[in-house]
This record gives sequence, structure tokens and C-alpha cells, in this order.
Amino acid sequence: MAASATPGREVVLETDRLLLRPWGVAEAAVQRELWTERDPRVPPHRRIDADGHPTLAELEESIRTDDLWSTRLLAVERKAVRDVIGYCGLVDGRGSAGEPELAFELLRRVWGQGYATEAASAVLDWARSSGYERLWATVWDWNTASRRVLAKVGFTETERKVVDPVHGTTLFTTRRL
Ligand SMILES: CC(C)(COP(=O)(O)OP(=O)(O)OC[C@H]1O[C@@H](n2cnc3c(N)ncnc32)[C@H](O)[C@@H]1OP(=O)(O)O)[C@@H](O)C(=O)NCCC(=O)NCCS
Repeated sequence: MAASATPGREVVLETDRLLLRPWGVAEAAVQRELWTERDPRVPPHRRIDADGHPTLAELEESIRTDDLWSTRLLAVERKAVRDVIGYCGLVDGRGSAGEPELAFELLRRVWGQGYATEAASAVLDWARSSGYERLWATVWDWNTASRRVLAKVGFTETERKVVDPVHGTTLFTTRRL
């Protein structure tokens, strides 16, 4: 897989069923659908607000201007159907310096078919070939599906956690590459 997690460089990763590649502006509707589908336990700043923000236009603008969407947090496209079903990639998160966070989110209608595990595995290979030695992933304690995906791709839970009485406890998991 010829790719590296160099800031500013566009990335394409391929697995048996998936292509992970830069977002197109026209695919902002998929991002908005992800926003609308989020669990009510997810904090408000990650959900559509009472005024409808982020709007489709705002998400389009973000794809157009933020290279996060072409270099780090990739669109997950099914090769057979050619549809975009969510994102997977690396973000500068709450881990440690030089140790980014794995992030993924898929549309509900495709859950349970192994796509997140397949996409996350490709991102781990990419991170390894880019020279990272360790990744983090943070996950709500109530998010059983995500915890299972992280366990399947080799993340283990650490002692580190942040307790939020309203939204739940955030668990810090990590994986050496
Ligand atoms: C987490 C998410 C990406 C998983 O996507 P997916 O494509 O369904 O994941 P996979 O099919 O690869 O694996 C899901 C695993 O969780 C298991 N699972 C799903 N729901 C579960 C539940 N309620 N209880 C127990 N296990 C569950 C599945 O059985 C499967 O494990 P298995 O292969 O051992 O059977 C998807 O649920 C999602 O987008 N959630 C919302 C966003 C999110 O939570 N992102 C991660 C933030 S850390």
C-alpha cells in the first residue's frame, strides 16, 4: 500500500471491499447523515443543533477547505456499490504527541458487516508504513460496537479514562504498531 500520513498529501487505501480516499464535496450529504444519526448520548457539539447546524453547505465548505478530509479522515467507499458509507482515519487526538487517534464512523444501514474492522485494519497498515509506533483510540464506555471493533484490530484498554456524569466515561485504548 503506497501511502503515508504526511500532512498535505492525499491518501488512497484499498482493501478487499473498500476504497479509503479523499472526500468529494458532493459527498457532504453523507457526512450530514452521519451527524443526524448520532446516538443521543453523544455530546451536543457533535450533533445537529436546534438551528440545523452544521448545514449541508457548511459541511461542503469544510470538505473544500480542510485537508483533514483528503489526507487524514478518509471517505470509506464500497468498491462494489461505489457508495460512500462513512469515514475512517487518523486525527490529532487526546493521545500523546506523535501518536494520533484512530477514528471511524459508518452509516447505520451498513453496520454489522465488518466494514469498520476492514477499514480500521487498512488505516493501521498505513499508520505503520508512515512510521508511527503507537496509536490511540478513545471510546465511550457504552459504545459496545466500537469497543468490539477496537479489540478486533488489537487495541487494549488502558488505565486512562475521563468520567463525564452526563455522557458517560471515555476510555483510552492504545495499540503498538
Ligand atoms: C462502531 C462502528 C463504526 C462499527 O461499524 P461496523 O461496520 O458495524 O463494525 P464491524 O461490523 O466491523 O464490527 C462490529 C462488531 O461489534 C459487534 N457489535 C455490534 N453491536 C454490538 C452490541 N450492541 N453489543 C455487542 N457487540 C456488538 C458486532 O457483532 C461486531 O463484532 P463481531 O465481528 O465479533 O461479531 C459503527 O457502529 C458506528 O459507526 N458507530 C457510531 C460511531 C462510532 O461509535 N464511532 C466510533 C467512535 S470511538
